[in-house]
Amino acid sequence: MQFKRTLFTLLALGTAAFAHAQGNWPTKPITLVVPFAAGGPTDVVARTLGAAMTKSLGQTVVVENKLGAGGTVAAAYVAKAQPDGYTFFIHHNGMATAPALYRKLSFDPLKDFEFVSQAVEVPMTFLARKDFPANNFQEMVTYIRANKEKINLANAGLGAVSQLCGMMFQRAVGVQLTEVPFQGTAPAMNALLGGQVDVLCDQTTQTVPQIKAGSVKLYGVTTKNRVKVLPNAPTLAEQGLKDFEVVVWHGIYAPKGTPKPVVDRMNAAVRAALKDPDVIKRMDDLGAEIVPDATNTPEALHAWLKSEIDKWGPVIKAGGKFAD
Ligand code: MLT
Repeated sequence: MQFKRTLFTLLALGTAAFAHAQGNWPTKPITLVVPFAAGGPTDVVARTLGAAMTKSLGQTVVVENKLGAGGTVAAAYVAKAQPDGYTFFIHHNGMATAPALYRKLSFDPLKDFEFVSQAVEVPMTFLARKDFPANNFQEMVTYIRANKEKINLANAGLGAVSQLCGMMFQRAVGVQLTEVPFQGTAPAMNALLGGQVDVLCDQTTQTVPQIKAGSVKLYGVTTKNRVKVLPNAPTLAEQGLKDFEVVVWHGIYAPKGTPKPVVDRMNAAVRAALKDPDVIKRMDDLGAEIVPDATNTPEALHAWLKSEIDKWGPVIKAGGKFAD
């Protein structure tokens, strides 16, 4: 009897302490895991949001870059992290494409995470090194078809959107190029600038400054319509790659079991960040579009991820490129 009473008291104290801890959340810095290299497109979005969220949360949001295997190393790490409200994860379409790309995945994107929020959508751009011998899209396609065995296409590994875009491009043009994987498109862009690789499909959040500086050649954008930040860039679809469309979307996740009040407060912090004038300006300058507030709920992210898994699974399987 005495034992039962002690156990009950301990449980009650534990629950009260947990509730109190959640009520005070956050009491220390929060880690936001980024699955690609520092300085790249995902990192730019994470650090811009993190800085704004720090204002409303009253604690620093620390970005941690966990690299490898097209984002799946970081996703597996977060899936197994303590669900204590201090580890979050930002990822893009790779969360939806990984199940089709990897035969063995140690996490289930739909089951092993709490869903916090969507964030921004980002167009991609198809680029070549500055001295690539093609001055427009048609010349580029002709040159690539004629020289396919010596063209290097950079990407950020299986699961990266640069790889997905590159795969769709090769399929649309009917070539198989040498793919050179990096641990993010930040190092891939450095290789393009240095002339070690020839072509790269990458997000405007990284490429706009390089395009505006004339450091790379731009052949088009991957969206259905032209984008405001690069008004003179035609879409790949309007230049002949029928129905070509890749838009990068971002989701913020937490390890499964993260308390709902914490997830809800994090959702509110992300939404507040997306209304922050500094975030709006930076995203606008880099061609990223903020997801409308009304649809920015954990439920909407879950439904969106599910629809993306259903959409990309068959497309990727038809591409026939997989990893264990
Ligand atoms: C990055 O942040 O490096 C990119 O999002 C990688 C990619 O998916 O292409």
